[in-house]
Amino acid sequence: MNRLAVLGHPVAHSRSPAMQNAALEQLGLAGEWSYEAIDVAPAAFASRVAEMPAEGFAGANVTVPHKRAALEVATRASDRATQIGAANTLSFSGGEVIAENTDAPGFLAALPESPRDKRALVLGAGGAARAIVWALVGEGAEVEIWNRTPERAAELAGELGATAIEGGGPLDPGERDLVVNTTSVGMGEGGLADLNLDPDSFRAGQTVVEIVYGDGETELAAAAREGGATVVDGLEMLVQQGAESLRIWLGQLYGTGKHEPSLEAMRSAVRRA
Ligand code: ATR
Repeated sequence: MNRLAVLGHPVAHSRSPAMQNAALEQLGLAGEWSYEAIDVAPAAFASRVAEMPAEGFAGANVTVPHKRAALEVATRASDRATQIGAANTLSFSGGEVIAENTDAPGFLAALPESPRDKRALVLGAGGAARAIVWALVGEGAEVEIWNRTPERAAELAGELGATAIEGGGPLDPGERDLVVNTTSVGMGEGGLADLNLDPDSFRAGQTVVEIVYGDGETELAAAAREGGATVVDGLEMLVQQGAESLRIWLGQLYGTGKHEPSLEAMRSAVRRA
């Protein structure tokens, strides 16, 4: 059995096991591959990862709060993961621990069209914002970052080639082609009012991405939808980053491109989970 897992803390709520097992089943690989959730406290992360290859693990997804640590424990990292400063995918092969970041390509794949030359506004400057800003800048978008704590926006913008918005009143989302919420607002605490946006200015022809997911629609997603914007939710990004991770692990064993995960099977599994 080739084992896979998602490492997080907490991780019980993760929809990745349902999603990845659905993809493996659809590929006819459920008898040879399995995917589970493993709760690991930060202090135990490095030692838990070190044990995994001997336990039959071929790889792991890594989620909050371990994405930086995942890069640190790796013996080898892709340029993408290194530049982003975080990894969400580890592969175990030939004694190596290889780090990759599939959040960035997963985010781009979740967009309805290329962000090249588009005006993008990223809300938030935490860990989740880094992969997204890196992806958007790399694709040639013009990226602005707003964050509740402006110093963090300035630091991220300086590091990755974006522009920080400091001060000023509520932002007009209608001026942007793409608005991405990477903050934790919408997951329970806080609401649309905390995001410094004019809620009545969303419009048709723009895309609004909410990277959190939970039960039901967030206030931001509802306001964007009412204004006519195309809304992409966090589950689509979850599916796309997960599919990219699975391509890496299966590609490592069988060769690249031999098994293409079914996005439809993955989408229906995350929406059921
Ligand atoms: P993550 O790795 O999920 O991005 P994080 O690094 O803790 O987590 O970042 C959380 C983001 O949500 C930050 O941009 C944070 O803003 P601050 O840098 O000012 O803390 C943002 N955030 C959290 N709660 C918020 C709120 N109530 N209003 C506005 N922004 C909030």
